[in-house]
Amino acid sequence: MSLAFDQSNRLDAAPNDLEAWWLPFTANRAFKKNPRMISGAKDMYYLTPDGKKIMDSSAGLWCCNAGHNRESIVSAIQKQAAQLDFAPAFQFGHPASFALAARIAAMAPGDLDHVFFTNSGSESVDTALKIALAYWNVKGMGSKTRLIGRERGYHGVGFGGISVGGIVNNRKFFGSLLAGVDHLPHTYNRAEQAFTKGEPEWGAHLADELERIVTLHDPSTVAAVIVEPMAGSTGVLPPPKGYLQKLRAICDKHNILLIFDEVISGFGRLGFNFAAERYGVIPDMICFAKAVNSGTVPMGGVIARKGIYDTFMKGPEHAIELFHGYTYSGHPLAAAAGLATLDLYRDEKLFEKTKAREGAWADAVMSLKDQPNVVDIRTLGLVAAIDLAPHADGVGKRAYDAMDKGFSDHGIMLRITADTIALTPPLIISDNEVDELLTKLKAVIKAVA
Ligand SMILES: Cc1ncc(COP(=O)(O)O)c(C=O)c1O
Repeated sequence: MSLAFDQSNRLDAAPNDLEAWWLPFTANRAFKKNPRMISGAKDMYYLTPDGKKIMDSSAGLWCCNAGHNRESIVSAIQKQAAQLDFAPAFQFGHPASFALAARIAAMAPGDLDHVFFTNSGSESVDTALKIALAYWNVKGMGSKTRLIGRERGYHGVGFGGISVGGIVNNRKFFGSLLAGVDHLPHTYNRAEQAFTKGEPEWGAHLADELERIVTLHDPSTVAAVIVEPMAGSTGVLPPPKGYLQKLRAICDKHNILLIFDEVISGFGRLGFNFAAERYGVIPDMICFAKAVNSGTVPMGGVIARKGIYDTFMKGPEHAIELFHGYTYSGHPLAAAAGLATLDLYRDEKLFEKTKAREGAWADAVMSLKDQPNVVDIRTLGLVAAIDLAPHADGVGKRAYDAMDKGFSDHGIMLRITADTIALTPPLIISDNEVDELLTKLKAVIKAVA
């Protein structure tokens, strides 16, 4: 396949040139000794500065659902940049962001019909938590301030997100700045769930813990519960059958807001616009980001139910109703990219195709079951997680080696968390490319055995 993109930006960086950038979530010293550099991309592949094709098994970071450098999206961004580079969203507006908000609201289930734009998943989470706290305040129920997250939840890197998230390293290094936060237990149990395709049968009862936590603190102090419908970044944990429905029922019973963090499950990854639709559960807010514009320009947002928006719309009309926002909320380039991306998803029926192929994808990935060190595989939508047994040198070493060798020796980009490899390819992947992906992955798993 020819990769039709300009290679004039080829990089020949000497190691010294790499020093200044402190890379995020990266082993910096190892990277700078042996950089995994990317200089181009098209459809399912990245290209390295020395011209090697690398298959993208993770849609970048779960964002490039339309594949890379799609013509219609690129041209929408170029046109928008030439017409309107920036417009303030505080007290002013531009057409593309209104058009995109209306499109997203139409895609969301139930009466989730107002969109607040941010620039990332982390900002979306902090925004939703702030809306929840302010909502109860505006309603005159300001004692409802407690937030409930879940162990192994990932809600980005803001102080709100790390407080409700359930990741030990965040607690260890940064503490939990938000007071009054509690956590549900996570839903993974290998003994009960190993090698399950789709939602596990075991685990719905873990939602009952919410009843216990709410009773402990008293519902009059609890503002909101936030969960990822499918936990992604801590190793892909599909929700047990009936679990999310139970959370909704308990939140309804006690007048508590339910927030779904759909930063990775939104926009087709599970074969639906949102996981909320897949599970028939309507949360009070949905956080989104990433695939809203296929990762092309930073953008995120929160979709709120009509009742939440309406609650704020009171007081003098010249007064700001929600004291919150970002300089780049609804940025013209991000919004134009979003509109073109949603057109592309619709025209190529990418969500419908993802739904239709879920069974075949699950079967294909489960074929890795007998490979060395594979201790569990989970699948859902166009997602799969392969857990490898840890190396004697420590947790995370085997998957790190897999990621490194995958890139340098096998032409595949792999996304890892501890010893889990998460597969989340662009939704455009063909059946032949699924075969290619799994062949490459098999070779990598053998190479790190
Ligand atoms: C569920 C979830 N929430 C929030 C985030 C944070 O998004 P960002 O990195 O855009 O801030 C992520 C990122 O992977 C995520 O998976």
